[in-house]
Amino acid sequence: MTQEEAASRSASESASRAAYKSTYIQVNEVGPRDGLQIEKAMVDTDAKVALVDALSECGFARIEVTSFTSPKAIPALADAQEVMRRIRRKPGVIYTALVPNVRGLERALEVGTDELNLVMSSSETHNRANLRMTREQSLAELKSILRAAAEQGPLPCNVSLSTAFGCPFDGDVAPTQVLDLALRLAEAGATGFTLCDTTGMAYPTQVAELCQRMETVLPGVPVTIHLHNTRGMALANALAAWQVGVTRFDAAAGGLGGCPYAPGASGNVNTEELVHMFECMGVDTGVALTPLMDIVRGLPALVQRALPNPLLAAGTRLHTHPAPAWLAERFPAAS
Ligand code: COA
Ligand code: ZN
Repeated sequence: MTQEEAASRSASESASRAAYKSTYIQVNEVGPRDGLQIEKAMVDTDAKVALVDALSECGFARIEVTSFTSPKAIPALADAQEVMRRIRRKPGVIYTALVPNVRGLERALEVGTDELNLVMSSSETHNRANLRMTREQSLAELKSILRAAAEQGPLPCNVSLSTAFGCPFDGDVAPTQVLDLALRLAEAGATGFTLCDTTGMAYPTQVAELCQRMETVLPGVPVTIHLHNTRGMALANALAAWQVGVTRFDAAAGGLGGCPYAPGASGNVNTEELVHMFECMGVDTGVALTPLMDIVRGLPALVQRALPNPLLAAGTRLHTHPAPAWLAERFPAAS
């Protein structure tokens, strides 16, 4: 290949890559579920409802309100039905909830849930620890949920595939493991998939590759990316996903979050950091940062622990400061 040919090829490659990059993203705020499920301080029902209501005013596409899981497994969300019943539903916002089994579906339907987020792990040991089932048992359970949901009429059923980028017990997870589960669940009626980096093991090139392979095997099926910042790579991973065409992101206000069955798992990617980064790049998130930052300021009191937050401390990128007073003396002519 001549240098000219190489230059033209690289220009057309970057043009086609650029065409992937969307000018908007949708943010799914998962703090009330992924965040609160792991907090030691019990957040009372009124406060949960108030949190979701406040988040509803920020412009999120979706809010994951709670999970209809066993109260023995996740005691912090034992009041799921009451929360879902009492929230003020803002038109245009999709209110979702995590559902691991048919019992969870029944509870979700009783109180009205716009979209279900079914869950199973990509890796065997994490599935057994988190859901007390083998992956084959989970698959059968999720297929029963999908069948029962279809009988209720159109009810979107996304599936979150945990540990899609690595398992804290089994180590690396082969992309084929994830793709195979997604294919089987799509055949059974799943309407979308969330690739979850449950314990923050993902790295950017890996994220890009798996997202691209999902698009190849299930073209047009919506993919959401769910990142944890355990090893400081969450924003880099989000950027990598966006660069290959992903437009849906899970995130938790204040970086709340974790997985009760994944030792060492820390918070989700901070919603405010994700929104700030994309807005800086001119990508529309739909989310208003000012009311969101007000909510984030109140989170330490809600969960009764400090939540270090660089963005709150520094302010947004163009938050400027008065120049030092001595500058006027040192440069009197400058005006
Ligand atoms: N909602 C409410 N209660 C439920 C339930 C649900 N979705 N599923 C099961 N239960 C109850 C059962 O009725 C039973 O109650 P009992 O002891 O009073 O009879 C008890 O929980 C145990 O039921 P069983 O079917 O044996 O469940 P299990 O103990 O094998 O646990 C799950 C399986 C999936 C229910 C449980 O592991 C779970 O909820 N995991 C969620 C994990 C999670 O959310 N992790 C974080 C997100 S990735
Ligand atoms: Zn998570």
